[in-house]
Amino acid sequence: MNGVFISVEGVEGSGKSTQILRLSERLRRLGVPVTASKEPGGTPLGSEVRRLLLTHHSSGESWCPDAELLLFYADRAQHLAQVIRPALAEGRVVLLDRFEDSTRAYQGALGVPEATLDRLSELVVGRTRPHLTLLLDMDPESSLVRVDTRNLDLGEGFRETRYDEKSLAFHRLVRSRFLAIHQKEPNRVRVIPARLDPGEVEREVWRQVAPLLRNAGFRVE
Ligand code: TYD
Repeated sequence: MNGVFISVEGVEGSGKSTQILRLSERLRRLGVPVTASKEPGGTPLGSEVRRLLLTHHSSGESWCPDAELLLFYADRAQHLAQVIRPALAEGRVVLLDRFEDSTRAYQGALGVPEATLDRLSELVVGRTRPHLTLLLDMDPESSLVRVDTRNLDLGEGFRETRYDEKSLAFHRLVRSRFLAIHQKEPNRVRVIPARLDPGEVEREVWRQVAPLLRNAGFRVE
């Protein structure tokens, strides 16, 4: 793996997509080769998996936890094979909106045991792990307000993410699981308070990203 792998994580409405857009534009302006993508749904087949995961089925049936977990990993395996590994092999900067920490936070919060997550991770992700993970941290009480506004903007029929609909307690648990990953791996996972205004978050993101890219040999002055 020659490129640089960066993932961005956080609860819904924490502003990940805005920051990824700003960072990728900045890097492109500097002439850094960037591949920006997201999970679930970073490949054409993966977007089919995303639809299966995130929309309600007319039968009312929902995925059992193991099936759901395997679908997230099916999406990820395809993404690694089609997008992430080839881009890293070409020496590009890969910028992902969510990666494995989301599985640890969300599926872990739904009760999937740590040992199961470890085994799947070993099997599917192996050594292709992010060099840096930016955790945009925010109290779900505030971030979910953003999500509600966003869903309203899109119109009622467009409400896609069923995780948005889970209780505040669930999102608080997800947040605490993200913070626990940071505590376990403070070097890889950097916490950025996401309540700051987007410009300040952007500066903080750059403060974390620039030295990593410089060390990897990119000119980012
Ligand atoms: P997305 O719609 O991209 O959420 P947002 O734009 O709000 O960040 O993500 C889809 C949902 O999938 C989100 O609620 C988090 C969830 N998710 C998991 O539960 N496990 C995972 O491994 C991933 C990648 C996402």
